[in-house]
Amino acid sequence: MSDLISHKRDGAILRLGFNRPDKKNAITAAMYAALADGLDEAASDPSIRVVLFESVGDIFTAGNDIPDFMAGAANPTDTHDLPPVARFLIGIASAEKPLIAAVQGPAVGVGVTMLFHCDLVYASTAATFHTPFVDLALVPEAASSFLLPRMAGHQRAAEMLLAAKKIDAGRAYEFGFVNEVVEQGELEAHAMSQVQALSEKAPRSVHLTKMLMKPHREEAIAHLQKESEHFAAQLKSPEFQEAGMAFMQKRKPDFSKLG
Ligand code: COA
Repeated sequence: MSDLISHKRDGAILRLGFNRPDKKNAITAAMYAALADGLDEAASDPSIRVVLFESVGDIFTAGNDIPDFMAGAANPTDTHDLPPVARFLIGIASAEKPLIAAVQGPAVGVGVTMLFHCDLVYASTAATFHTPFVDLALVPEAASSFLLPRMAGHQRAAEMLLAAKKIDAGRAYEFGFVNEVVEQGELEAHAMSQVQALSEKAPRSVHLTKMLMKPHREEAIAHLQKESEHFAAQLKSPEFQEAGMAFMQKRKPDFSKLG
């Protein structure tokens, strides 16, 4: 298991944390594999009642590791049939136990889209939410183009997914994917108290309730797979080559000659 994902048991709670602060917790293929393994463990171990996603440092996660994207390293399969990123995304979309997130700083890309699969999301006042897929010449993933318009309405989803605007925690609360915004120093204790309370509730009742609240789960997974096909095609495109090089060279991409 990658040590860039912290893995802690706290009673009936499995805590999975992004732990690569020098690279703003950007997620590599090995990290996706560790997250997916954690979700598998939660699914098969009856003593785990709730999964908490958290992070080390002043950021939640800067999303997918961009050099990894460019090298295609996020795509190879590991010992499983699917690439680690797909295992993780399908894992959160099909999780039957509650998923909770404590977002203590900026969340970018999949750091945001994974939240749409969480049941409860707590954010600190320092959290921001940014899905710059279009700025990277990519497309939304994790069924975000299916879930966010349903949660927030088309125009607000377009503000995040099409215009790629970064929003703060208060606006994320208005959009409907953050439950509560708390002071940064209080986030961990607050999230843990909520997670603890949830972990003590009757497990079958919790499971059935979550499943009843997700009638569009299969549709979301099918949409996620459709997004993945476009995403994979865009990764091979001249548009993404330009966007990726621009990121590495710390400059603005120039799409004016493409299309
Ligand atoms: N993949 C790989 N490395 C990343 C990364 C990513 N997604 N995001 C940040 N890093 C690295 C930077 O390259 C830098 O590495 P270096 O010190 O070796 O140069 C280090 O993390 C610090 O990043 P920096 O940009 O200096 O930090 P910041 O505090 O000024 O900004 C962010 C933080 C998250 C706002 C900014 O790094 C960012 O926008 N990252 C890209 C996010 C992104 O587009 N993700 C993909 C979404 S699909």
